[in-house]
Amino acid sequence: MLQSAAVDKLQQRVDKLGHILDVAKALVAERDLDRLLTMIVQSAARVVEADRCSLFLVDRERGELWSKVAQGVQMKEIRIPMDRGIAGAVATTNTAVNIPDAYLDPRFNQAVDKQTGYHTRSILCVPMRAVDGETVGVLQALNKKGEAPFSDEDEELLSALGGQAAAAVNNALLHQEIEQLFEGFVRASVVAIESRDPTTAGHSGRVARLSVGLADALPRASSSAGIWRGASLSSQERQELRYAALLHDFGKVGVRENVLVKANKLEPLELDGLRGRFETILMQEELYSEREKVKLLLEGRPDEAPQRLAAIDARLAARKLELNSMFDFVLTCNKPTLLAEGSFGRLDEIARATFVSPFNGEARPFLNEGEKLKLSIRKGSLTEDERREIESHVTHTFRFLSQIPWTRTLRNVPDIAYGHHEKLTGRGYPRSLKEPDIALPTRMMTISDIFDALTASDRPYKRAVPREKAYDILLDEAKRGEVDKDLLTVFIEADVAGKASEEP
Ligand SMILES: [Fe+2]
Ligand SMILES: [Fe+2]
Repeated sequence: MLQSAAVDKLQQRVDKLGHILDVAKALVAERDLDRLLTMIVQSAARVVEADRCSLFLVDRERGELWSKVAQGVQMKEIRIPMDRGIAGAVATTNTAVNIPDAYLDPRFNQAVDKQTGYHTRSILCVPMRAVDGETVGVLQALNKKGEAPFSDEDEELLSALGGQAAAAVNNALLHQEIEQLFEGFVRASVVAIESRDPTTAGHSGRVARLSVGLADALPRASSSAGIWRGASLSSQERQELRYAALLHDFGKVGVRENVLVKANKLEPLELDGLRGRFETILMQEELYSEREKVKLLLEGRPDEAPQRLAAIDARLAARKLELNSMFDFVLTCNKPTLLAEGSFGRLDEIARATFVSPFNGEARPFLNEGEKLKLSIRKGSLTEDERREIESHVTHTFRFLSQIPWTRTLRNVPDIAYGHHEKLTGRGYPRSLKEPDIALPTRMMTISDIFDALTASDRPYKRAVPREKAYDILLDEAKRGEVDKDLLTVFIEADVAGKASEEP
């Protein structure tokens, strides 16, 4: 009989050790700190047959112990000074404490029981020691089930679990630190892009929110999702999309600033030069008229003088009007609006007109070749070369992102970002990819990027359009087969933009 009791006890011990081993495996695999802490306290309570268990982690910098307790569906953080109570004593001395009757121990803080209405009897509190001997936290078990207090064996088992838990917590904290470090790096990169091109401030963050919002809306939009019915992104793919969206325009740091922020066809300095040239021409005309007048007076024909002087003034006034009208026309052409067909002839005429250079006396055209080329841009404000330079930002982004040793779960970030200006028709850039080669996350980002570029109010070269108008423009693109029409339907019907704008 006695022997069988001993065997039972031994069997129980083997079971508990087996349980610790199982828990240890599960703990190592868990990277999420909240889930990990919950797992540890549940296992600890089971191993030592305690009514409840709590866990405190050491924050050496602040000299505190902290814990997370479940509050509804959320976890709330609580903090206590490191030298307080039983948990504090265990953390500072790095030795276990086993108290059969809490109310007889002066270290026990009865106020907590009064506050919670719980009655603490026995307490077993052990340090969670990492491999290097450092105390990572403490595990505290309350009220051993049954009448007896916690045994030496319980202490041994809880300490063993505490050691495993310490390793897992360190792992999860390290993982969290790496994530925070990377998150910080991404944020810093976004600051770099946006300080280069302040006109697109907030664009990266908004595109990320819209893209992730669309990814979240997709599985819920079963009827309108078309070919994407049933499709969804895993949490890792969602994170990939978020990073790709935050960094999609990073390559803009490789584009010359004056091209990037160009509002009109001529750069401000070029326009100043042109204004100066027209002023010179005007002064030359005035000078020429004055000379004519002097010559006339020297000729000594006073009877003809008044009419001829008036004729000179009239000619000068007409010339002034003509020059002003030319310059006004140049200013109109300089705006990035669509140029009418007839405009090119007039621009040619102005460009061909000549004046005498005050520097070398040679005849010079009113507009040089470069100016004529820029002013003749039919749509927008960029020349072909400048447009190509702006478009190169996508390749720069890809090159930059390819330098980062992404983890396995984030390895598609460079590819997703690389495709953000591709069109399903193959008319996008830089690779002219066709529909089958453009992945779902890239399509989500493309819609979000276009939508934000249209609705953002801070671009110098175009006015912000209202949300409904942006939808119409995108629907037109979808009709032409350029953007994914099913994703666009989800984007509009699920009000992804409305919800994203409400986010803090
Ligand atoms: Fe872009
Ligand atoms: Fe963009």
